[in-house]
Amino acid sequence: MKEKLQKIREEAISQIQSSKELSKLNDVRVAFLGKKGELTAVLKGMKDVLPQDRPAVGQLVNETRAAIEEMLEETKKKLEAAELEFKLKQEVIDVTLPAKKNRIGHRHPNTIALEEVERIFVGMGYEVVEGPEVEYDYYNFEALNIPQDHPAKDEQDTFYINNKILLRTQTSPVQVRTMETRPLPIRMIAPGRVFRSDEVDATHSPSFHQIEGMVIDKNITFADLKGTLAEFAKELFGKDTKVKFRPHHFPFTEPSAEVDVTCFKCGGSGCRFCKGSGWIEILGCGMIHPKVLRMSGIDPEVYSGFAFGVGLERIALLKYEIDDMRLLYENDDRFLSQF
Ligand code: DAH
Repeated sequence: MKEKLQKIREEAISQIQSSKELSKLNDVRVAFLGKKGELTAVLKGMKDVLPQDRPAVGQLVNETRAAIEEMLEETKKKLEAAELEFKLKQEVIDVTLPAKKNRIGHRHPNTIALEEVERIFVGMGYEVVEGPEVEYDYYNFEALNIPQDHPAKDEQDTFYINNKILLRTQTSPVQVRTMETRPLPIRMIAPGRVFRSDEVDATHSPSFHQIEGMVIDKNITFADLKGTLAEFAKELFGKDTKVKFRPHHFPFTEPSAEVDVTCFKCGGSGCRFCKGSGWIEILGCGMIHPKVLRMSGIDPEVYSGFAFGVGLERIALLKYEIDDMRLLYENDDRFLSQF
């Protein structure tokens, strides 16, 4: 028995010493100390040892086991250290290599223009609110005084999810949603993406952005609308900018107007930029139609308000003198990094 244990011990130690990998070392552990290992087999054979010899043999088995375990542990540490050192050598960093330049992205011209508009209106006490891009026909048309058979629906053809739900053609539905849910008085702007089934060209895209504005309170008049938009134009395009209100028609405002600003390139004398007219059209606006107020539960005898809608891309294109809207969507880095 003694000899047998001695042989096991020597064999185990020799196998441990020739193990060059941790996985191999584990195989050796299993082969000798595992459930079906050689040393375990010896333990199982203890019943055949004479009772008076058992303590001595038992001690010998334990010593053998301890010796093998110690050797295993020692070798494991050595192998681990060697592995780590190998890894560190492999992953060495050449600090003399030129560094990769860390490039930081920056804001899209649309975002810059939007933040500018928000800054101006928040400064006048407006709240910024949002509405859904997938909208009910009711909010997009019906509640804005554009009934089922109204010709305005032709001009704003869009993508229908079903006959009640569509991709909104304008941010004006947010007016209705705000009237329904917010306490009066209201002073809000609502920026967001809108959709129309338009072909892509230099001035059209099936998806673009608008900023809606709305004020409702007692005694709001057209003078408030004019003053507000005149101030907005000055802040956005420079303090000498003048505004001109041209009568127009929108179903949800009465009276309605389109607003032109003096060309910030030539100051109004006429140039290539304003096509010789001295004026540039920037938005639509008007006094909220009493019917629209009433449909959303506001008494037009007590309250009045104004609204306006401006194209965000239009402002970005004007401000940065970009002559093709498609550039805003192509996300060409060489273009974007100019702003
Ligand atoms: N929603 C209109 C459009 O897309 C723009 C507009 C005009 C908005 C007049 C308004 C407004 O709030 O009062 O053409």
